[in-house]
Amino acid sequence: MTNEITKNYSIQVFDVCVEFENTLALDNVSFSVPKGVLTGVVGPNGGGKSTLFNSIAGLQKITHGKILINGISSKNIKGKISYVPQREQVNWRFPLSVKDVVSLGRIWRGNILQKFGFSDDQIIKDSLKKVDMWQYRKDLVNNLSGGQRQRTFIARALAQETEILLLDEAFSGVDVASQDGVIDILRNLKNEGKTILIATHDLNNLSERFDSVLCINRHICAHGDPEKVFTPEVLTELYGAHGEKFAEHNIGSHNNGD
Ligand SMILES: Nc1ncnc2c1ncn2[C@@H]1O[C@H](COP(=O)(O)OP(=O)(O)OP(=O)(O)O)[C@@H](O)[C@H]1O
Ligand SMILES: [Mg+2]
Repeated sequence: MTNEITKNYSIQVFDVCVEFENTLALDNVSFSVPKGVLTGVVGPNGGGKSTLFNSIAGLQKITHGKILINGISSKNIKGKISYVPQREQVNWRFPLSVKDVVSLGRIWRGNILQKFGFSDDQIIKDSLKKVDMWQYRKDLVNNLSGGQRQRTFIARALAQETEILLLDEAFSGVDVASQDGVIDILRNLKNEGKTILIATHDLNNLSERFDSVLCINRHICAHGDPEKVFTPEVLTELYGAHGEKFAEHNIGSHNNGD
């Protein structure tokens, strides 16, 4: 971890603590993510993943430390980060179509861009096509499967046209084929230069999915190469005694040896 402040990093987190009434959710968390890297964020329930994402997105006040986005204070991040939270805030009682939900990603910038003649429609269409949801654009989001819904939220994040994407529990309730579809989409986006953080509980095939893994259980237990971070000590720090069993099981390589 370097203390150097540089624009080559998308995200820099320095000694961040977040305290709730009776809980220290983040304890001296420091790490840096270079631009254009796809990072998996793993850790136990209550390990602080969502708190970390909320802090990076500027939605959670940090008790101590600092967060920089492209070398600039995260207090001034409007338009730099798209965030798909763990629990969606969309009011599902409204009959929102797929296209409506993606359009929500354009709201904050609509007025300025429309003045210059940019078409939101084209960006919404491109975003839906990238995640293979254009053909479902008129469907009600309530009627979608979990994987389709997840793709819709990713399209909404894309429509915001930011460099950084934060996806909290992107795979919960999503089947394996759809997970692979989502990963393919995210890898393409990363190849276009986006920096992406995904919190996940799925520890399979991490090295195929991510460039880097951040292991967090209130503090950072490890950060780096998915094939190297899961030492027995790290697994015990993350998951207690049960973690060691994962280690014996050769984590991250459940792909039938191919
Ligand atoms: N708004 C809040 N008020 C009080 N405590 C909170 C709040 N948000 C989170 N916490 C506490 O902070 C700790 C970290 O929670 P967080 O949701 O960040 O964990 P997580 O890693 O995202 O867990 P999960 O895997 O279950 O989603 C937990 O102990 C939680 O109870
Ligand atoms: Mg969470």
